[in-house]
Amino acid sequence: MQKLIINGGTKLKGEVQISGSKNAVLPIAVAAAILGDSLSVLHNVPNLTDVKTLSAVLEGLGASITRKNESLYIEPINRMEYEAPYELVRQMRASIYVLGPLVAKLGKAKVSFPGGCAIGPRPVDLHIRGLEQLGADVDVKKGYIFAQADRLVGADMDLTGQHGPSVGATANVMMAATLADGTTVIRGAAREPHISDLAKFLTAMGADIEGIGTSVLTIRGVKQLHGTEHTVVSDDIEAGTFMVAGAITNGNVFVRGISQQQIPAISEKLTEAGVHLEWNDKGVWVTVPDQLKAIDVTTVPFPGFPTDMQAQIMGLMTLASGSSTITENVHTDRFIHAAELNRMGADIRLEGRKAIVNGVSYLSGAPVMASDLRAGAVLVVAGMAAVGETVVSRIYHIDRGYEAIETKLNNLGANIVRVKDND
Ligand code: UD1
Repeated sequence: MQKLIINGGTKLKGEVQISGSKNAVLPIAVAAAILGDSLSVLHNVPNLTDVKTLSAVLEGLGASITRKNESLYIEPINRMEYEAPYELVRQMRASIYVLGPLVAKLGKAKVSFPGGCAIGPRPVDLHIRGLEQLGADVDVKKGYIFAQADRLVGADMDLTGQHGPSVGATANVMMAATLADGTTVIRGAAREPHISDLAKFLTAMGADIEGIGTSVLTIRGVKQLHGTEHTVVSDDIEAGTFMVAGAITNGNVFVRGISQQQIPAISEKLTEAGVHLEWNDKGVWVTVPDQLKAIDVTTVPFPGFPTDMQAQIMGLMTLASGSSTITENVHTDRFIHAAELNRMGADIRLEGRKAIVNGVSYLSGAPVMASDLRAGAVLVVAGMAAVGETVVSRIYHIDRGYEAIETKLNNLGANIVRVKDND
């Protein structure tokens, strides 16, 4: 295992290039490998553990995947493998994305039932419900989801769950519906930028999808999808994380490769907190002219404030003047980072789904532990603003979703070293 040693106190300055979106490339690679019938080439693919894990899942199903620099060359599956085993699925919940495409393409699928994780229970009932509505027989036994259908048939369905739309279920069912007989209407569809990017990719493969970017997707099934070339959209959450990193260190950072339309709520909330954002067609300059102000944030599906930025905005609010309330409405147990931030001198109190953050005048470096991907990111961000040394362990969580995080931050003037963790 590895850890990051961060010497805090430097203001970040300069320019950082945002990588391709993790949450877009995962389902896109699945579509290319399972639904396509010829080579697809994906550009702007981030070099992340999650992409490697997914590639292993897809190679296990018979696809052939080669990386050259920032591009992935995906030759689709050419034999009848339909099982995604526990060993791989347990490493990454997004492996569930193979379920719908496998049933659509091969008529059956056997995918290990994904477990819970540090951000709380993560059910897949909506994925299953959607596929059942397309006519699949779905059975859960011995830790696996078995699904089969001679032919999927289009249906009109509402995929809204108790916490709102589901990114994963929307992607899974949309992919399956592209090869179903007839028309599928998904109401209550997720609208995140990565869902739109997947829909654009499927369209380039020959799918017929209407309503991209809205909560009603209409998918007319086609007989077959071909390989295509696609540049993955930039990562909204990586961009938001670097914007917070610039702000919390009172720096002057240009975040390149992001547009305001991709992150409307993040832009709005950072501005409300006193962060100055100057947009141009390449990205955004981030500065903080005065003291940061406390704000209230509630996480909701896109276009609202994303749950994947909740930890980072909480980190920023630890140094704002006044008291902020952060309400988590998507992954309701996602607060483990609060206790770690308190170890660094923050003043955060949890009340159910709410975190009340009273701003403090400084954070102090401390040994802390990443419990999930974004919880790890906030500890790095806080460590750069803290006085003294912060040691973040279990950084394999961070490497799942941030490409070369310490290299990018060190290029902005941070002082971060990656070392082997012998604990
Ligand atoms: C995706 C993202 C993750 C992000 C989340 C919400 C990927 C690989 N991961 O996860 O980073 O935090 O969207 O933006 O893209 N739910 C159900 N039943 C289901 C599915 C979901 O009740 O069948 C609930 C979840 O528990 C959660 C909410 O719906 O409360 C939203 O989850 P969902 O959008 O599905 O998240 P993921 O696709 O797992």
